[in-house]
Amino acid sequence: MTPLKILAIIGSPRNEESHSYKTLKLIEERMNRLRPTRFEFVFLQRTGLPFCDGCLSCVRKGEEFCPDFATIDPIVRQIEAADGIALAAPVHTFNVAGLMKNFCEYFMYKRNRPSFFGKQAIVVTAAAGGGHKVVLDFLQRTAAAWGCDVVARLGMSSSQMQSDAYLAKLDAAAQDVAETFSTSIVNADPQAPDFAGLINFRTMQIMTNAAKKTKNYRYWAERGWLDANYYTDVRPNPLTALAVAFIAARIRRAKKKGKISPVR
Ligand SMILES: Cc1cc2nc3c(=O)[nH]c(=O)nc-3n(C[C@H](O)[C@H](O)[C@H](O)COP(=O)(O)O)c2cc1C
Repeated sequence: MTPLKILAIIGSPRNEESHSYKTLKLIEERMNRLRPTRFEFVFLQRTGLPFCDGCLSCVRKGEEFCPDFATIDPIVRQIEAADGIALAAPVHTFNVAGLMKNFCEYFMYKRNRPSFFGKQAIVVTAAAGGGHKVVLDFLQRTAAAWGCDVVARLGMSSSQMQSDAYLAKLDAAAQDVAETFSTSIVNADPQAPDFAGLINFRTMQIMTNAAKKTKNYRYWAERGWLDANYYTDVRPNPLTALAVAFIAARIRRAKKKGKISPVR
């Protein structure tokens, strides 16, 4: 049986010592009990990526104009070649660790021109005490905005690793994530977008429609997204879609009437 290929991106500066990495190794081991699975790890700390300089060339002109395209593009190719991806990063100051945040900034163009549709993903974080939800939400929303189906999340507490009771719970959670991830890759059932996913689509649609003659506009036009209900044919919950259509209409009206106010 050909092994499932998972591309795991580690955003902890502690590399193999990190709980982010060790938690993914646990999930990898559990996935291998189900079917052969090979994790390939990208340690962001070792990529030598400088801080994104915010030029927005990737968004405006094309990703190939990024000053660090030579580092970013091979990772994009690795993601494309994988059956699934895992994003793992610790909580630093109650938010996602800077290494991972910086990496996601390089992928801003993927939020504008998503392409990883059908790619299953999981997100993982590690914290001593708290902040898991902020980071898991960020990683989930980010991967979803790139086009991935995020099928499972896991936040572990590194301060609890001396407790046998906690270890047993972590084991059970890793097992559950492994089963969900492995099964969803094999079944490849497309996920319906949730409220946040639909709002993201509609706001990107409004922005893109307002920016004709751009790379984004051409990309969206080629795919028929400029007046679509979503990126793919998968049908969202009709009530969610209705609520989002209402909000999108209000955003459009507010923009048209110049009613956007500073955020306080
Ligand atoms: C700069 C820094 C900031 C941190 N901020 C938090 C925090 O806000 N909340 C928390 O629970 N732990 C915090 N921690 C602890 C780490 O989240 C914890 O040690 C985690 O296990 C590290 O994950 P890693 O082993 O994958 O690097 C912080 C650690 C560092 C180095």
